[in-house]
Parts: sequence; structure tokens; C-alpha cells
Amino acid sequence: MLRVAVVGSGPSGCYTAQSLVQQDPDVLVDVLDRLPCPYGLVRYGVAPDHEKIKSLQGNLRAVLEDDRVRFLGGVLVGGPAGPDVARLRELYHAVVYCVGAATDRHLGIPGEGLPGSWSATEFVAWYSAHPDAADAGFLRDARSAVVIGVGNVAVDVTRMLARGAAELSPTDMPQDALTTLTASRVSEVLMVGRRGPSQARFTTKELRELGGLPGTDVGVDPAELAMDPAYTDPSGLPAPQRRNLEVLRGWAAREPGNAARRIGLRFFLRPVELLGDGGRVAAVRFERTAPDGRGGVTGTGRFETVEAQLVLRSVGYRGVPLAGLPFDPAGGTVPNERGRVLRDGVARPGEYVAGWIKRGPTGVIGTNRPCAKETVAALLADAPTLLRRELPRDPAQALRAEGIEPVEWAGWQAIERAEAELGARLGRHVVKLADWRSLLAAARTAGS
Ligand SMILES: Cc1cc2nc3c(=O)[nH]c(=O)nc-3n(C[C@H](O)[C@H](O)[C@H](O)COP(=O)(O)OP(=O)(O)OC[C@H]3O[C@@H](n4cnc5c(N)ncnc54)[C@H](O)[C@@H]3O)c2cc1C
Ligand SMILES: NC(=O)c1ccc[n+]([C@@H]2O[C@H](COP(=O)([O-])OP(=O)(O)OC[C@H]3O[C@@H](n4cnc5c(N)ncnc54)[C@H](OP(=O)(O)O)[C@@H]3O)[C@@H](O)[C@H]2O)c1
Repeated sequence: MLRVAVVGSGPSGCYTAQSLVQQDPDVLVDVLDRLPCPYGLVRYGVAPDHEKIKSLQGNLRAVLEDDRVRFLGGVLVGGPAGPDVARLRELYHAVVYCVGAATDRHLGIPGEGLPGSWSATEFVAWYSAHPDAADAGFLRDARSAVVIGVGNVAVDVTRMLARGAAELSPTDMPQDALTTLTASRVSEVLMVGRRGPSQARFTTKELRELGGLPGTDVGVDPAELAMDPAYTDPSGLPAPQRRNLEVLRGWAAREPGNAARRIGLRFFLRPVELLGDGGRVAAVRFERTAPDGRGGVTGTGRFETVEAQLVLRSVGYRGVPLAGLPFDPAGGTVPNERGRVLRDGVARPGEYVAGWIKRGPTGVIGTNRPCAKETVAALLADAPTLLRRELPRDPAQALRAEGIEPVEWAGWQAIERAEAELGARLGRHVVKLADWRSLLAAARTAGS
């Protein structure tokens, strides 16, 4: 009987577990996560106002509730109090690392470290109630914000800055973040791309939503759009980019409105410096860029300064190395061949990767399903070799004997109950617990 550990309970971990139980009638799968809560970025990344996407948690739940799958939360693999990579290899026939991309990329420009300049990753983690997130005082004294990057995460954080109480209260956002966001005095949010509108990474559905936010105008400068050769002749563009340009064209033609909040989209501006005042960020200095004819841009030597008391860089997530696993610092991924981990360029049966740590930090939830399937195909092809090894005993018992006390499924269900109770007390629906102490205290009630 094949015993597999899946490290990470985000989409790639859950799809890996699902693919394993679907294809091997005898396999037993433990899904370990460093958090006591499952679902990875579906719980801690997908925007709280996107309830439909959040509801995908229901599909992932069904996987973790399978009889042959066991959730072991609160187990940090490679951490001081958790099993290391070598120990997991002893306890299981195979280990699949689905640990995602936990950190963010930097701009590498002066002033980036000023208070008031944060990564979208930090901001998202805060409003999503990640227990490691801190309230950095994101909105302190902020009246205007600049979001650097034009991907879907940039759209998410821009939208969250423009949402009002009526739209945020029904979400499961933690109470402190709700209070802060609904008291926000930010009246202008600029989302800025270093290349042209036809090269923006956001998808049309997400872009279009910005144009329908209550109490918010959206604006785009027609002259900036026209700098993109594809704007005047979009015939060579793939359909999704053509649709984006259509949305932007519609906005460019709108009369300026007088709503309390305004979202602006800017293009062909590359950030070169964050300027401070009184020890906090006060403005962003951009260089105007121009298309280079090869899909990139060149600097023009002309500069523009935009006032902002809040700057969120949303320029991509980044994988972090896990002690004992090889790591490619260039891509922030674990070197692999169709999911098999490569050590010194050689695939070793028994160690695998799936999801963002395998491919890099791009792709929607569904992209992780075929990615996990490919990895599971490699693992099951190796199974005859892997099964030659006798395993000591139930891995969870072994972990307990070593002082590691996982939060099992009942513990997670107790957290869910506590979040529903908190919501009821606050006159809201479900409200997430945002700190380790509350999460672990709630999980412990499962045993009482
Ligand atoms: C802000 C944001 C919003 C998004 N919104 C959408 C959306 O609306 N729709 C959509 O389709 N896609 C969305 N995506 C993309 C989607 O979330 C990803 O494709 C997906 O989550 C990647 O899955 P993953 O399993 O590789 O990583 P993750 O979801 O990050 O899961 C990794 C898991 O591994 C655990 N882990 C990490 N290290 C360890 C360790 N050492 N030991 C134990 N456990 C560990 C983590 O706690 C986490 O639970 C969004 C992404 C971001 C960043
Ligand atoms: N609703 C949804 O479906 C949803 C929501 C959120 C996230 N996601 C998915 O999650 C994945 C990650 O999204 P993401 O937004 O983090 O990444 P992304 O799509 O890769 O976008 C990153 C953005 O940052 C810009 N950028 C990178 N380096 C920069 C620099 N030094 N200076 C200025 N700009 C820079 C990029 O511009 P260049 O193109 O010029 O490099 C790009 O606009 C994506 O696949 C996304 O679709 C989906």
C-alpha cells in the first residue's frame, strides 16, 4: 500500500491528493500544511469579495474528506518544530511538495523600503487574515495610492481599496481589516503598468469589474492607450488582449465623473524611485517608457512624479527555498522534470513537486489540476520501485512521538465553527480568525 505525503493543502496539494486516490485504489495520502487551515491561497489569497471563486473551497474540502486522505495541519515541514525533508522521506514512500510561492518580488529601486511602501502580498495576507500577517498601518494618512503592476493581483488590491462597507461587510474579512478599509480616506488609486495596455496581464472579467464599483469612477488616458501600436491595430492580438483593449477604449471615451473615489489606469511608466517625506512614502517617480517594437519597452529619459501615501508593488509572487530540497533561485522553483525533483540534474523517484513551486507563480486555480495530474503520473510510474521499501509505522503516530501535534480535520472544523460564531456575535456572516493563538485555541476545542 503506497503511502504519500503531500506538503501543502492549496489547490495543487488538493488536486494531487485527488488524482492519487482516483488512480490508485490502495493509496493513503497525508496532506500536511504549516497552517491549521487548509486551501492555501484559495483561503489566503483569493479576494474576499469573490465569493464564487472562494466557494471552490467546497471542491477542495471533498478531497480532504476522502476516507483515504488525512489533513495534518500546523506542521511546518523544514521548520524548527516540524519534520525535515529527510525525515519525511523515511516516513512515506513518496513526498509531493506543493508549497506554493510564499513571498514576493522586489522592484530593486531606491525608497522601496519606506513605510507606506508594501508588497501586495503583505496587503493581501492582512485582509485575508493570514496568521503571519501584520497590520502594517497600510492606510495610515493615505489619500492616494499607487499600485505598481497590471496583473490580476494588482486588480484585486485596487478593487479592495475602492470597495465600501456595504460590499465588504458580508465577506469573511477579519474585523480589524474591515474597520480599517471601511474608514479609508483613499480617494484615488492608480494602477500602473511599465508596458502597454495590450501587454497587461489582467483578464477581461477582472478588469471589467473595476468599471462597475459603486461610488467609484474609472479613468484611462486615451493618449497613453494610443502609444500602444496594438491599440490602433489590434488585429494581430489574441482575443483576451483584444477584449481588454475594448474595455479600456470604452473607459477612455467616458466623460469624467464626480464619484467620491477614482481608479485610474496608467501605462508606459516604469517606477525608478519612491520618494519620502517625514519618514514615509510620499510619491513615486516614474520614467516614461516607449514600445521597443519587440514586446518590451525602452526608457525615454522623461520623468513623472505621482503623489501617493500608499504604494503597493504587485509585481509577482516568488517561491522560497525549503531546506533539504534543491532550488532554482532564478525562477524561484524546485528543479523538476514533469514533477520529479531533480537533484544534481538527476530525477530521484520519491520526491515530487506540483503547483506554483513547480511552474512558478502564474496560473489560476484550475491550472494546478493538470499540473498535479502530470506529477501524479510520474509518481505512480515510479510506484513499483517506491513500494520496495518497508515503512516504519503510521507516520502521524511517528510525528506525535517526536513532539509534533498536528491539527487534524476535526480541529479545522472547530476553527470553522469558531469563525461562524464570531461572525454571529459581530452581526456578520463568517468572520475569519486572524491570529495563531485564536486559531490554535479553536482547534483545541475539537478534542474537548
Ligand atoms: C492574491 C491572489 C489572488 C488569487 N486569486 C485567484 C482567483 O480569484 N482565481 C483563481 O483562479 N486563481 C487565483 N489566484 C491563483 C491561485 O491562488 C494559485 O494558482 C494557487 O493557489 C496555487 O496553488 P498552490 O497549491 O501551488 O499554492 P498555494 O495555494 O500557495 O498553497 C501552498 C500551501 O503550502 C503550504 N506550505 C508552504 N510551505 C510549507 C511548508 N514548509 N510546510 C507545510 N506547508 C507549507 C501553505 O501554507 C499553503 O497552504 C490568486 C493568487 C493570488 C496570489
Ligand atoms: N481573479 C483571478 O483569476 C486571479 C486573481 C489574482 C491572481 N490570479 C493569478 O495569479 C497569478 C499571479 O498574478 P500576479 O498579478 O501576481 O502576477 P502577474 O500576472 O505575473 O503580473 C505581474 C505584473 O507585475 C509587472 N511587473 C513585474 N516586474 C515589474 C517591475 N520590476 N516593475 C513594474 N512592473 C513589474 C508585470 O509587468 P510585465 O508584464 O511588464 O512584466 C505584470 O504587470 C496570475 O496567473 C493571475 O492570473 C488570478
